[in-house]
Amino acid sequence: MTQIVYYSVTGQTRRFVKKITSSAIEIEPHNPFIEMNEPFILIAPTYPEEMIEPINDFLETNRNINYCRGMFGGGNRNFGTAFCFTVRDLEQEYGVPVLHKFEFQGSEQDVEKLKKEIRKIEHQNN
Ligand SMILES: Cc1cc2nc3c(=O)[nH]c(=O)nc-3n(C[C@H](O)[C@H](O)[C@H](O)COP(=O)(O)O)c2cc1C
Repeated sequence: MTQIVYYSVTGQTRRFVKKITSSAIEIEPHNPFIEMNEPFILIAPTYPEEMIEPINDFLETNRNINYCRGMFGGGNRNFGTAFCFTVRDLEQEYGVPVLHKFEFQGSEQDVEKLKKEIRKIEHQNN
């Protein structure tokens, strides 16, 4: 099983994830220290660093980083070159690849891309 783990401040990322599964894991700011023991894709919106600290806390919990197969970044193209910089920074920091970037709650193509990446990971695990 490939899990989806996400963080959401204003609900856009949550809406994207709910299009694919109702059993995703949400990183809660008051308790981000969830221990993972199976592969997952992280879906993260883009905010100033101090606003995404729960994501760092989550990735640094136990062996979580070893189970993270890749990330999807949510953002807003109006931010220009800062579009989806959070996942790009996390990629540098933790060496986990950015698989895809999308805007707000994602389009049908973004949903398809996530399904495809999940299938790829399941295939690799078999
Ligand atoms: C204070 C603030 C700063 C943001 N900065 C960026 C940014 O630098 N780059 C970007 O692509 N999106 C930026 N965004 C857009 C959000 O990442 C985007 O709306 C995302 O879909 C929000 O996801 P959420 O509703 O799950 O929190 C910013 C939004 C806010 C409110």
